[in-house]
Amino acid sequence: MLPGTLALANMKQCSMAAKNFDPVAHNRIAWDRLVDDGNEWSRPVDAETVARARAGDWSVVLIGYEAVPREWFPAELSGTRLLCLASGGGQQGPILAAAGAEVTVFDNSPKQLLRDEEVAARDGLHIRTALGDMRDLSAFEDDSFDVVFNPVSNVFCPDLAPVWRECFRVLRPGGLLLTGFMNPDIFIFDEAALDRGELIARHPLPFRTTDLPEAERLAAQAAGPLEYSHSLTEQIGGQLAAGFTLTHLVEGPHHDDITAKYFPAYIATRALKP
Ligand SMILES: C[S@@+](CC[C@H](N)C(=O)[O-])C[C@H]1O[C@@H](n2cnc3c(N)ncnc32)[C@H](O)[C@@H]1O
Repeated sequence: MLPGTLALANMKQCSMAAKNFDPVAHNRIAWDRLVDDGNEWSRPVDAETVARARAGDWSVVLIGYEAVPREWFPAELSGTRLLCLASGGGQQGPILAAAGAEVTVFDNSPKQLLRDEEVAARDGLHIRTALGDMRDLSAFEDDSFDVVFNPVSNVFCPDLAPVWRECFRVLRPGGLLLTGFMNPDIFIFDEAALDRGELIARHPLPFRTTDLPEAERLAAQAAGPLEYSHSLTEQIGGQLAAGFTLTHLVEGPHHDDITAKYFPAYIATRALKP
């Protein structure tokens, strides 16, 4: 896509009535563009990492650069039906497939999915890919997965209740939901100041990119995906309301901003479908 095309598309979208603005369509274009720009969450794993995973030496991240504890996964990964949800980029999917899981990668960005397909072709892995919005997993039958693996991504999704409901539906009883998400408090801070290494409290929560003052909103929309802070009630309470039992929760520092000095900006949870 030509630079500025996204900006133009967004200006047009913004001039339409708010009800016609589709945040998921916006974020699809925005994430495809991040892939073109070499975003770090779009850089596929190398063949050596895949070879090590095939030999049983593997780890994956749900939040920042922190490896998920191995015991969060089933003891035997071989044959585990695993849905990598909003987890494109050729990262966790290929590692988990090389470790023996039957992997499906679901994502809203065609270019993110292409990364997984490229790694699968390069390293002879079987990975199924599916394009869509994480709030609608109707492409999958009830009880069709043993594990849903969802690294930090719901920050780009307007509402979470449907996500948790769908995860619950597609998991078999006894299945696991592993999710990473942002501590909403990070959205209190002015983003430009954060980039300068300063913490300036500015936004009351909940934060939504679309609520920014117009000039800022247009600039943010032209620059990238829309973000939503989501409360802990939506994140953790939402999983419980969908029927999950929480078994583990850990926090971790943001991987590349000043907040890491002050508080853990990431949270990861492991939940069980009883
Ligand atoms: C930070 S990346 C996560 C992938 C990465 N492999 C990781 O380790 O975190 C966020 C992903 O969420 C996807 N995404 C954003 N909104 C989505 C939605 N509504 N439904 C499905 N995927 C979505 C993006 O396309 C992107 O691939």
